[in-house]
Amino acid sequence: MSGFEGFVQALDYPVHVVTAACSGERAGCLVGFAGQTSIDPPRFTVWLSKANRTYAVAARSAVLAVHTLPHDALALARLFGALTEDEGVDKFARTPWTPGPEGVPLLGGAAAWLVGRVLDRADWGDHVGFLLDPLDARQARPGPVLMYRQVRDLDAGHPA
Ligand SMILES: Cc1cc2nc3c(=O)[nH]c(=O)nc-3n(C[C@H](O)[C@H](O)[C@H](O)COP(=O)(O)O)c2cc1C
Repeated sequence: MSGFEGFVQALDYPVHVVTAACSGERAGCLVGFAGQTSIDPPRFTVWLSKANRTYAVAARSAVLAVHTLPHDALALARLFGALTEDEGVDKFARTPWTPGPEGVPLLGGAAAWLVGRVLDRADWGDHVGFLLDPLDARQARPGPVLMYRQVRDLDAGHPA
């Protein structure tokens, strides 16, 4: 294991499901690379793999939704992290959701969500950063959220 791999494998942080919608198409995937990037103005960034169906839809979307999950929502994490819409799976037929701003799916099973307008994209490697300006955010289920260490052994639907 390289020093870099050892460093990042020792980290733990919340995981999120990022959803997008464009021209009637919906997509969403589990995301570990995400975080607040400014306090004033408020900014949040999520990093999407170019290999994912979600990236292809998000690249054409004006807004994205970022969800945290309750600590026991392993099935939801598996749905969005281990399956890909590229293999014909309709993730949104398997879990409750409602349309948010610009039609972006808001997951009924989320602990909290944030909808943000895409201000910028940063292509620095195999993942692209989407800088979000928060439009709305809600906390549906306050409490402990699902963490990376709980799902790190899932086989991702797409290799990065
Ligand atoms: C623990 C874990 C963390 C992940 N982190 C990210 C991430 O930060 N960004 C990303 O684009 N994909 C990430 N993935 C991979 C996607 O969630 C996965 O490939 C998904 O099946 C893609 O679905 P899609 O092709 O329908 O978009 C992660 C997967 C797992 C299991």
